[in-house]
Amino acid sequence: MNYNTAAIIGAQWGDEGKGKIIDYLSARADVVVRAQGGNNAGHTVVAGGKKYALHLVPSGVLHAGTLNIIGNGVVFDPIGFFDELATLEAAGVDCSKIYVSDRAHIVFPWHREIDRLSEEAAGDGGIGTTKRGIGPCYTDKAARTGLRVCDMLDVDLFRKKLAASVDEKNRIIKNIYHAEPLYKEAIVEEYAGFAERVKPMIADTGVMVYDAIAAGKSVLFEGAQGVMLDLDLGTYPYVTSSHPGAGGFVVGAGIGPHMIGEIVGIVKAYTTRVGAGPMVTELLDSVGDEIREAGHEYGTTTGRPRRCGWFDGVAVRHSVRTNGITGIALMLLDVLDRFGEIHICHAYETPDGGTTEHFPASLDTLGACKPLYKTMKGWETDISGVSSYDELPAEARAYVEEVERVCGAPVKIVSVGPGREQTIIREKIL
Ligand code: GDP
Ligand code: IMO
Ligand code: MG
Repeated sequence: MNYNTAAIIGAQWGDEGKGKIIDYLSARADVVVRAQGGNNAGHTVVAGGKKYALHLVPSGVLHAGTLNIIGNGVVFDPIGFFDELATLEAAGVDCSKIYVSDRAHIVFPWHREIDRLSEEAAGDGGIGTTKRGIGPCYTDKAARTGLRVCDMLDVDLFRKKLAASVDEKNRIIKNIYHAEPLYKEAIVEEYAGFAERVKPMIADTGVMVYDAIAAGKSVLFEGAQGVMLDLDLGTYPYVTSSHPGAGGFVVGAGIGPHMIGEIVGIVKAYTTRVGAGPMVTELLDSVGDEIREAGHEYGTTTGRPRRCGWFDGVAVRHSVRTNGITGIALMLLDVLDRFGEIHICHAYETPDGGTTEHFPASLDTLGACKPLYKTMKGWETDISGVSSYDELPAEARAYVEEVERVCGAPVKIVSVGPGREQTIIREKIL
């Protein structure tokens, strides 16, 4: 059976432009589902001349009528969530169609505190997390000591569970990090309040998603982060604590693998990364700075400058293979307008003098790899107003087609600007 569904995943280190494509495709989607990560995500959508930053709320929210689901694999931070709702509602966005899975784990203040303390303790050896408590919350989930959204349904019992958790976490904060304990009564009161507010939005979202797919509705799965930040497939330990790839939707939305139709890899026309960890094509010179300024490469969530470099085909090929990516959306191509020469990395030179086309597991090896580039001629014209593939300069089309060749997947969408109208469709998705 053919399902009317598509998964949109980041195929690099996050911030590829997932929000823009989800918003674009949401015009035709009945349901948009987030399935993993939390408010470490920052998805920017530019619509009607206004800019929106989404963190936990699915990017389908900007289309009235779309059902927005926060699935069981997400770590749900009520503080971040209600702040985000307030901002969206103040901007006139209808937030009445948002549901939160009863199985999602809750992010608490101690998760953020432990995230901050452990990053501080690691000093220069830190991961460079977003300090949103994501890792510590998933740690509790795996340790089977977390609290879930369904625990909020019985508020009296929730207060008791919460009080016991604060006591336990305060022992860790005091005895391991020698930091100030958290104030139990304030947390219990605040979160009991959140429980009352979130109650009307709590649902068994897996059933909602299944029923929608079975009824032939169009369902979009909204990725967060990127495959190179995946706990298994990425640059461990410089990764996030979840599974941003296609597999993450199966567990995190609670669906069968065959129910995902198309798997779209969102790919920037170059490479960025925020946080620590090796990045083979990183440019520490003025070219890197030029990309950063032209692409406004500063984090949507933390405001940190993003590290910039040429397109890393080895990394994207790894993502295509490990996720069965059926099509690529090539984003921010307009940022490369200003370069006379553009480089694409198609393989790495390894420290033993050999070459590889496959992404190495060992960070010691990866850190010593050098990029092998193919140099392409730039187009040096403004393409931000181009609306069809054939109108793109020949050099830009050659670049797109080289990306396809290096990564082993067709480029179905080309994006030439942040706006909805700056989207070139080569092959229809959904
Ligand atoms: P996400 O986390 O994958 O949703 O990506 P972010 O929103 O963090 O970062 C992508 C940034 O690029 C945002 O500021 C978008 O508005 C912007 N953007 C998306 N597509 C394009 C494009 O084709 N060209 C340009 N210049 N900007 C784009
Ligand atoms: P979107 O959805 C880019 C990075 C952090 C850090 C690592 C671990 O906007 O693409 P965490 O707080 O998750 O424990 O941090 O992962 N990171 C992201 N980088 N985009 C994101 O999300 C990210 N979410 C986490 O910078 O290196
Ligand atoms: Mg982002």
